[in-house]
Amino acid sequence: MIFSTTLDLTPGQTVARSVYGKDNHLLMKRGYELTLSSIALLTELTISGIYLEEEGTDDICPTDVVEPESRIKCQNALERAFAGLQKGASNGKRVMVNPAQIEAATREMVGSLLDAQKPVLAMLDLRSENNALFQHSVGCSVLASLLGKEMKLADDMIRQLAMGMVFHDFGQTLQPASLYAKKGTLTDAERKTVQEHPRLGFRKAMEDDLLSPLAAYVVLRHHERVDGQGYPDGIKGDDFKRIGRIAALVEVYDTIISLRPYAPQQMPDYAVKQVLCETGTAFDKEAGVALVKCVAVYPTGCAVRLNTGESGLVVSTEHGKTTRPLVRLFYNEDNSRRTPEDVQLDRSDGRCIILSGMSLEKVRRAKVSLPKISIADELDQLAA
Ligand SMILES: [Fe+2]
Repeated sequence: MIFSTTLDLTPGQTVARSVYGKDNHLLMKRGYELTLSSIALLTELTISGIYLEEEGTDDICPTDVVEPESRIKCQNALERAFAGLQKGASNGKRVMVNPAQIEAATREMVGSLLDAQKPVLAMLDLRSENNALFQHSVGCSVLASLLGKEMKLADDMIRQLAMGMVFHDFGQTLQPASLYAKKGTLTDAERKTVQEHPRLGFRKAMEDDLLSPLAAYVVLRHHERVDGQGYPDGIKGDDFKRIGRIAALVEVYDTIISLRPYAPQQMPDYAVKQVLCETGTAFDKEAGVALVKCVAVYPTGCAVRLNTGESGLVVSTEHGKTTRPLVRLFYNEDNSRRTPEDVQLDRSDGRCIILSGMSLEKVRRAKVSLPKISIADELDQLAA
């Protein structure tokens, strides 16, 4: 299958992976043939793109370390709980959240991940603007658990980290929604208010006995930085526990790959580079190294261009070798179509990826100059 941005879809193409709508209900089943009105619906729902069937790509099957159904179950439970909180906040009423359903859904997600051997997050995370907060919360929870496993945290600690990440932004639901939808720069007063959301969430979690102290710590510390430049308290050194450092790094990575009102959505290679460039200063080095080991810098199905000018799609990625995936080449150096060939990128081969994107058409036609050093080499150096 191939990935296509919604903008590039045409009627008659066949859906290769089921698509879920804004209420997380099934919108288009695998095998569905796109029409003009269904493409318009995807645009309306701000779904960034979908997977399509394409000749010669049947064996390119992105697999998630966590079943999409488990993620959706968790997102739904979270949405229900947060809706109650927001309603209560706007009416000035105190609302209690029952975390039982969210906890059960989180345990299910983390359970499949803990059972997996050398898991890699290898799918493009498809998101829409409509339930961005819930997708971000659940995405962070999955990723933090993965890093926790890679960093050999105890299973119980990983579960608490996962719960903390699911709830990390729920302090936002106790504040005016307009603050988080604003497209322009925040005023100083607005920024100060926003920077209080970790503390608000932490207090609510402790007062209502919603989370364990460790999970609540994750909520409080998810915007702190190793060098003390974070918020709400600007802590650093030994005061900043490992579990909080994972939360802070994951939060930034997931924000960069998300649809945001104030910045464009980026590909994982860009996000990993941004985070790794700041390990040792803003972010924890060990968490950064874990990130590049178990998050596919080039997810399965994404389009890539090599330093040779050839272009194709990522077929698979191995744990620990995420900067050099197996690639199926569809186009030659001169952009002419070729017989597809699978190439395992390798340091000794000399070929490396210089551009990635969601659409093969765009990536193969893009004007790019050869960088002095590829992102793959740069990431390997930063993670060394
Ligand atoms: Fe936050």
